Parts: sequence; C-alpha cells; structure tokens
Amino acid sequence: MEGVELYEWDTIIIEGKARAIAPRQEFFLRSDGVYEPAWAPVFYNPVMEHNRSVTVLLLTALFNGGGFFFIEPLAGTGVRSIRIALEAGGMGIANDLEPLSYRYIVRNIALNDLCNVIEAYNYDANSLMNSVRNSGVVVDFIDLDPYGSPMPFIEEAAHSIGRGGVIAVTATDTATLNCNHPEACRRRYGAWCKRVDFSKEMGLRILVGSIIRASAAKDVALKPLIAYYKDYYYRAFFRADKSAGRADELLENIGYIKYDESTLNREYLASLEIEECDKHLVIGPLWIGSLIDADIIGRAIASMSERRLPIDNRIAEFLEKLLIEYEISTPYYRLDKLCKVAEVNMPQRSKIIEALEELGYKASATHFDPRGIRTNAPINEILCTLKKSQLSNQ
Ligand SMILES: C[S@@+](CC[C@H](N)C(=O)[O-])C[C@H]1O[C@@H](n2cnc3c(N)ncnc32)[C@H](O)[C@@H]1O
Repeated sequence: MEGVELYEWDTIIIEGKARAIAPRQEFFLRSDGVYEPAWAPVFYNPVMEHNRSVTVLLLTALFNGGGFFFIEPLAGTGVRSIRIALEAGGMGIANDLEPLSYRYIVRNIALNDLCNVIEAYNYDANSLMNSVRNSGVVVDFIDLDPYGSPMPFIEEAAHSIGRGGVIAVTATDTATLNCNHPEACRRRYGAWCKRVDFSKEMGLRILVGSIIRASAAKDVALKPLIAYYKDYYYRAFFRADKSAGRADELLENIGYIKYDESTLNREYLASLEIEECDKHLVIGPLWIGSLIDADIIGRAIASMSERRLPIDNRIAEFLEKLLIEYEISTPYYRLDKLCKVAEVNMPQRSKIIEALEELGYKASATHFDPRGIRTNAPINEILCTLKKSQLSNQ
C-alpha cells in the first residue's frame, strides 16, 4: 500500500489525523480473548489513544499549534510522534531500542509523508537523549512512555530538555506505586507507602515527588502542569526550569502524609514530626503541592474547539472534571471506608457531595475512584454528615 510494505500480521489503524501500521489485534489474543499488546511484535495499545490525545491537546495549547522540537525516546510504532507532528505541529525524533519497532517507525513516517518532519532512530533511550543534548539541538518536549517505571529515564530527560521545555511521563507500574509492593516502591521511588483508602492518589503523589527530586539533582525544576490516573497508568506533564533556586522552591512541596487508619483522617506534613509517628502512619516523601496548572488546562480545553482537532469530546470533559476536583487539595476519601467508620449504609455519592456543599465546604467526585469523594471538610464533619444523611433517609 502506497509503496509501504505490510507484514501478514499488520493492519492500518487510524488515530486522530495519523494512519499507522500496527499489529492485527486478533493475532495476539490472550486465552480470555483480550488483546495483549506486549505479545505483538511491536507495541501498539489502542487503550492509550486517550493518553496520546491528551498529549496532542496540551501540546497544542503549550506551543500555540506548532514550531517546537520533540523527542519520543520509547516510540513503539511511532504513532504518538506522528500525531504530535500532524495535530500539534511539532517536528522531532521517534526512537526505539527494538530493531523491529524502528522498522515500524520508519514505515509509519513514510505512510504519513513525514520524512522531512520526523527522524527515526534505533538507540537506547538514554543514549539517544544524551546524543541529542551533545549535538546542541534545543529540545522543547520529551515524551517518556516506557514499560513500567519511567525513573530510569528521568535524569537524562531533565538534563536534555531545553529551557522552559515540557516533559511528559507515563508510569504503568501502578501496583508498585499503589503499595502492593512496598519494597519496590521504596527502591524505585524512594518513598515509604502504605495501603490507604486513597492509594491511587498516594501513588501519583509519590511518582510526581520522585520525579521532582530526581530532576532537582540536575538543578532542574520540573513543575507539574497536570498529573492524573487513567485505566491502569499514571500520566504527568512538567514544565522545566533550569534553575537550582526554582528546584529548591519546588522541594518545599515535597513532604509527607500523616494518616490515621482508625478515623481515616489525613493531613499533609511539610516535614517529619517524629513524635507524631507512633499512632499515625506517615507516608512519603511525596508531592504535597498542586497537581494542575488551571490556566494551561483551560487553554487546552479551549484549543479543542478553536482548532477543530479530531479529538473525542470526552477528553475535554475529563480535563474539566480534573479542574474541579483539584480545587481541593486534600486526598480523596473512599465512601465505603467512610461508611464503615461512621457505621452507616452507603449513600449515593452525589447526595453526600451536595450535603457537604450545603454546609459550605468544597466537595466533588474524583477521577481516581468511582467510590471516592474529595472535600475540604474535616473528617468529623464528613462522618457527621454521613450519619445525618442516613437518619434523613429512614
Ligand atoms: C509502551 S511502549 C511505547 C509506546 C508508544 N510510546 C505509543 O504511544 O504507542 C515502550 C517501548 O519502549 C521500547 N524500549 C524499551 N526499553 C527501551 C530503551 N532502553 N530504549 C529505547 N526504547 C526502549 C520498547 O521496545 C517499546 O516499544
């Protein structure tokens, strides 16, 4: 097709404005019939379209529709780089260590007629970033989308990104970050974790904190622009400031969470107060600052209609919900756990949110968990509100 050779297990998918050669899903099914991207000769995961679409949208807002240079050091088929070029106006490099992935990237660049816009490479990700840095090319955007943890690539990315550039990171080792494997969390992310009712937010804050600490070691401040949880992965975007002073300022927001298992009370701590530790769990170090830059996310939402991007409206709705819930900084509570402590039946989530708002508190649903609520109400007020709602339903 169009001079680009297809293997027998290939198909052509369409995502956004990109066309890409990718493995036929029916060739790589598990016994339960679900497609397993890791079994295919090259990695293409259709579930990650959401991740790639959010990326295109944010880049459009951050770089005003074009004129920026990007690196995708772990590119798989190259579909992400192709979308960044076609939809957000970037030019750059798509790289993968696997020789077969490299072949897919080359063919997909040709299929989309982008030979003058994207260059394909076949290096280790860190070597690639190092070489680009030494060549003197200014890099505006680096997208790290590895298998599992992004930590092996953070220092090199922080070192290689240009002034004011943006780094995006995907982490799929959620079991480690959610504390199913505390030792691995300590090893990879340098943080003590616990199984808590807000474990998905704890994992995100540990990831963000660990990235900020690793980049600070290179005198680079990586300020979070947006960080969220989706499906089975975390995603975070950071603006890079090459300033030791700014890195020091960001480290002010690396702290701990004090958590009382019996009452579910949670509190941020800027530093460790050892005498508090016996009764409460202390988790961290982790990021205790904001997980969103409302201005940039507002611009990204607006750019969707302004630029008529071929992106599902649900992406803008997702970002709008994040804007609302992140007005509240306290980690979310799980309603089923709250009800257990209050000894009441579980009410509808919307009812308890309304009741807390009527009392003058902020309250919202959370994207982290369908059973979760976010609120700035103190724990006693939340428990009291649950008990009252139970009585009024009797
Ligand atoms: C999750 S996939 C990337 C998917 C791609 N970014 C997308 O959006 O479709 C991770 C890729 O990293 C590649 N990889 C693993 N270790 C690498 C390394 N050290 N350097 C470069 N690529 C690597 C794998 O071959 C794989 O294609």
